[in-house]
Amino acid sequence: MAEPRPLPVRLPAAKPSASEDFLPDSRSLPALREAAASCVGCELFRRATQVVFGEGPADARLVLVGEQPGDQEDRGGRPFVGPAGALLARTLEAVGIDRTQVYVTNAVKHFKWEPRGARRVHQKPSAAEVQACRGWLMAELDAVRPAMIVCLGATAAQAFLGRTFSVTRSRGEVYATPWARWWMATYHPSALLRMPDAASRAAATAAFEADLAVAAAALAGLRAAARRAS
Ligand code: URA
Ligand code: SF4
Repeated sequence: MAEPRPLPVRLPAAKPSASEDFLPDSRSLPALREAAASCVGCELFRRATQVVFGEGPADARLVLVGEQPGDQEDRGGRPFVGPAGALLARTLEAVGIDRTQVYVTNAVKHFKWEPRGARRVHQKPSAAEVQACRGWLMAELDAVRPAMIVCLGATAAQAFLGRTFSVTRSRGEVYATPWARWWMATYHPSALLRMPDAASRAAATAAFEADLAVAAAALAGLRAAARRAS
């Protein structure tokens, strides 16, 4: 892969995150997952069924970061098991990424929702809630140390790069970051599912697949280099 580009925005100054108060002494993924279950770093735990922690192998080369669990994730306790997860799974398969080898997580670990009739409707987490939850995300990345991070949507991307980063402008570009040698932002699969116009939806879905294909090629390059070295 071509050299990653320098970041298009200035890195935001690191701020303390409320969830850091709940981090366990051991920073293994199982210890983090267990500790996150009693996080009260922001108000979102109150209305959610349970924490939905990231999931996947500790030696994953690729980490995917979504926004927050949805209705089905909240009930099931696992990330990306609903309709957005199904689209994500299909796309990963199409580009040849084995989902069982990927660590999948969210910027915010509790489901934020509002009642509408009998339904629980997703609400976007605030910047303060993303900041409060960021301690978990950073601890997951410290534990996994992936070669590549792909952010799904603006909430995830802005958890790293702040609010001046625009997914619309910078999607599909690979950047060098302190968190991984390759970092990219792309569409959120839920945003694709919500696009009302069929033509724009088809175009955006194709772009999403092309972005994940770039990630697939980078990871294939890594595997080939590892084989040559061994
Ligand atoms: N959308 C997300 O951002 N994350 C999930 O886990 C499910 C849907
Ligand atoms: Fe803690 Fe994150 Fe849940 Fe807020 S959303 S309570 S910071 S785990």
